[in-house]
Amino acid sequence: MYEQVSHSLLNRILDRLKPETRKRDLRHFYTRLGANFYTIHSLFHHLYGERDDFTRQMVRLVEVMACQYIERSPSLKEVDIARERDHNWFLSQKWVGMALYTDGFAGDLVGLASRAGYFQELGVNMVHVMPIIKYPEGAGDGGYAVSDFRDVDERVGTLEDLRNLARELHRRDILLALDVVVNHTSDEHEWARRARAGEKTYQDYYYIFDNRDVPDMFEETMPEIFPETAPGNFTYDETMGKWVMTVFNNYQWDLNYSNPAVFIEMLDIILYWANQGADIVRLDAVAFLWKKIATTCQNEREAHLILQLMKDCCQVTAPGVLFIAEAIVAPVEITKYFGEDAVIAKECEIAYNATFMALLWDAVATKNARLLNQGIRSLPNKLNRSTWLNYIRCHDDIGLSFDDADIVQAGYDPHSHRRFLVDWFTGAYPGSPARGKPFGVNRKTGDARISGSLASLVGLESALESGDPDAIQRSVDLILLLNSLIMSFGGIPLLYYGDELGTINDYDYINDAAKADDTRWMHRPHIDWQTAELRYRRGTVQQRIFDGLQKMIAIRKTITAFADYNNRELLDTGNPHLFTFIRSNPFMLDDIVLVVANFDSSPQSLTLSDLWQRGRFEYSRLRDLYSGESPRLFKDQLVIPPYRFYWLSDQELP
Ligand code: GLC
Repeated sequence: MYEQVSHSLLNRILDRLKPETRKRDLRHFYTRLGANFYTIHSLFHHLYGERDDFTRQMVRLVEVMACQYIERSPSLKEVDIARERDHNWFLSQKWVGMALYTDGFAGDLVGLASRAGYFQELGVNMVHVMPIIKYPEGAGDGGYAVSDFRDVDERVGTLEDLRNLARELHRRDILLALDVVVNHTSDEHEWARRARAGEKTYQDYYYIFDNRDVPDMFEETMPEIFPETAPGNFTYDETMGKWVMTVFNNYQWDLNYSNPAVFIEMLDIILYWANQGADIVRLDAVAFLWKKIATTCQNEREAHLILQLMKDCCQVTAPGVLFIAEAIVAPVEITKYFGEDAVIAKECEIAYNATFMALLWDAVATKNARLLNQGIRSLPNKLNRSTWLNYIRCHDDIGLSFDDADIVQAGYDPHSHRRFLVDWFTGAYPGSPARGKPFGVNRKTGDARISGSLASLVGLESALESGDPDAIQRSVDLILLLNSLIMSFGGIPLLYYGDELGTINDYDYINDAAKADDTRWMHRPHIDWQTAELRYRRGTVQQRIFDGLQKMIAIRKTITAFADYNNRELLDTGNPHLFTFIRSNPFMLDDIVLVVANFDSSPQSLTLSDLWQRGRFEYSRLRDLYSGESPRLFKDQLVIPPYRFYWLSDQELP
């Protein structure tokens, strides 16, 4: 019955579509809309069905999908069709990503396009270009406070430059990932300005209140995201004389998704950027999309329904485009952004593996993998046709959102363990070589996060200062060790620009008043291309790291067992210093790789025959796929040097 209603509505909508849309070749569009309409209508009805203007909004939604389909270029439509046929294309081990700020990497978009060869030199074939959409000078949160969703920020270039970049990357088989900041706008966005000027339509785009009554109710259960720089979740706007919800910085106004007009605007914007050539859209801060009193206003069920709806609509207009969920939340919550109670992903196909990232840093500080093993064991299975974005560092801080129960299980007290980690990475702990800084210190709860570049956090900055060659080598080994794990864990490894050259912290941000109280700026570098040339000089830190990564990436791409089909088996070796797992190719049974990483400063050993029945591996034929050498082996005792890893296989080298 319901299905009939929604289908007759579909027919009415198609009749009412603008005349120009009816003249086009919309066959693929109609097929996809027909296939997805029942779900789209149900979700939209579930969220907005109570409203008098429901049908009008539904028509508008379909109109947006149709108009953006018409705008989509023939070449992108071809890519859509190819990806529909090869729908698991992004699970392949051949993808390796890098995230970067355009200005820091290459000045502007033209500069970035001219550096495209660098990605190929390293082996990177997915580039996440962080926010380039227009944002204000000063109060911009590195581009995450958007003032005009349809234009490129003039500091990095023009829309035309972006289209050229997309073409240049695609010509080289490199994917382009772009950000769409869906949770909030800058207070300088036109919607915010019109709201401020008193327009009710635009006040309804945000959470705006006459007095503190409702904000105070919200505050009872909402945590603070930037407690030092933006305490509380509401900001008083003098002009309006009202309170606005601002979960992040006080100039970032939270969008109100209980208003269907907001959903439709944002869908239109996502599709707009998909049409500029984005293969992947990174949806920022998705955990925050729905606000409800008496909750933390994170991970609400409706936030998931909104993402499902966005995905289903995108499936109709631009089915080749993938979504990345940026949800830096508790481990049990993260996997839900692929979708729940489903077999294949129905929200975002890709999610940041923030759990793995934080656990890797725990292993670095403790020199053992106890919490890492425990945390990965507790990480819920993810759906098929979904994959992780595995990373070590990004432009944000390192949050220590492990599960308390896992910390206890690993033998630590949660509060003092987190304090130890902050002390370790900020160099306050005796003997720590790390050079990070605290971020987001919450004086009320005692919580803190950590800023700092990969190189500085593993001790390279202090080692270079002291000139101690052993300490330098240790840091280089640790950098390669961490990378070996994001390359082999299952998912798309995402490097962070500058880390491939061992770039240390940049302390210049302190001199810029707009950045000085946000320590994240210390790890958002400007690449010095002169220094980058040192990657060609044997023995330099740059060469050791760059070559190591280049080789690792090339080898990863040949190891089919590293494709992500949930084909990882964590091994309990009994040795707490080791993180060990098997990757096996689900389509070729004897294609198995044993990954072993030693986080300790001493050599560690592992008894191979304890791990699985004899015969699964030919010990005598074991080779490390990375170095091409036989590992150190005595009978079935495998020896792993300090801060080293193996990718072991008994198959012929590729
Ligand atoms: C995301 C971004 C972060 C930003 C925040 C608010 O978490 O990664 O840099 O501050 O959203 O937009």
